[in-house]
Amino acid sequence: MATLVTGGAGYIGSHTVVELQQINQDVVILDNLSNSSKAVLKRIESITNKAVTFVEGDILDTELLHSLFKQYQFDSVIHFAGLKAVGESNEIPLHYYKNNVYGTLNLCEVMAQHSVKNLVFSSSATVYGDPETVPIKESFPTSATNPYGRSKLMVEEMLADLYRSDPSWNIALLRYFNPIGAHESGTIGEAPNGIPNNLMPYITQVAVGKLKQLSVFGNDYNTIDGTGVRDYIHVVDLAHGHLKALEKLNSQPGLVTYNLGTGQGYSVLQMINSFEKATGQAIPYQISARRAGDIAECYADPQFANQELNWTATKSLVEMMEDSWRWQQNNPNGYQ
Ligand code: NAD
Ligand code: WQD
Repeated sequence: MATLVTGGAGYIGSHTVVELQQINQDVVILDNLSNSSKAVLKRIESITNKAVTFVEGDILDTELLHSLFKQYQFDSVIHFAGLKAVGESNEIPLHYYKNNVYGTLNLCEVMAQHSVKNLVFSSSATVYGDPETVPIKESFPTSATNPYGRSKLMVEEMLADLYRSDPSWNIALLRYFNPIGAHESGTIGEAPNGIPNNLMPYITQVAVGKLKQLSVFGNDYNTIDGTGVRDYIHVVDLAHGHLKALEKLNSQPGLVTYNLGTGQGYSVLQMINSFEKATGQAIPYQISARRAGDIAECYADPQFANQELNWTATKSLVEMMEDSWRWQQNNPNGYQ
């Protein structure tokens, strides 16, 4: 039996494939390489000493999906494939809905036709919108403020309907908080195209000299020091969460939703300070205007995942900083 990993060449997917291979699970990656590079495959192999089975293709390609489900004996799918840039989703919303919503619908139809009904879906803390209080529990109300977030919410609702119509499905909706860090080998990590949107790759690109200085988006939020607070989680901890979710699906839980976060929030200034301390690199920054759509504080209550999945994030903020930096230093231009 094998696991199909859509989007397995991407940031979180590649780290999850490493962990799956390391527990001897057979994996097939399906990725259209729209936001990743084939070079990651050799890197994964160099970490695990195992061959990677890779298919270059699109989750929108129904024929291809059928042929894959005929060729391999899948018992589960981890579905990472999706577009994730919030700003871009405002500019090309239909592309986001087609890729993220229709792509998932297409995948689920093919899964159903081949009686593969175990699915782990990459959702996001973005589905909590601007929460009234923190820490955030899974039971909090959901909302979205941009097409990317709405695409995640639509998929969550579609999967809930699918489960209600056919309770033989087992579906884990994993709501990730802010993944950062990289594999400790420094050989795989986050490789954003162009200027990064997210804080951590921006910091490491300033440190390596690719960008001049960081803009801190607002210092007048109602937080510890006025800058935005987030729940940063090491990508390898996140990858382990997927292994635990797959295990859970084998016990046939039906539809389940888990926050994958650490439960600890850090401000932008705390992140800069922590990076500087962990790496000895200075990060020049200036305070600039708030970024449209940003919220003050977002961090998880991870207790439900801790209990139900027997999973906890174990890596410290220092490890996140060191591992992000090692990856950036070894690969100043990502996989190129
Ligand atoms: P990523 O862009 O590195 O990985 C996604 C992968 O999916 C890429 O390799 C891309 O080429 C592939 N892909 C996209 N559309 C595809 C399609 N139609 N067919 C086949 N492959 C396709 O992103 P990531 O950070 O690894 O995120 C993985 C998932 O987790 C995404 O669904 C994302 O929305 C979600 N997520 C990410 C974050 C984050 O901050 N990184 C937070 C919450 C949720
Ligand atoms: C973190 C903090 C910024 C960049 C996004 C998506 C979310 C999820 C994770 C997928 C905020 C501040 C950032 C910079 C800054 N992705 N910042 N200067 O916005 O919490 O979440 O990625 O699901 O959906 O919205 O993450 O890393 O962009 O920002 O000051 O150059 O850093 O204002 O407070 P965010 P981020």
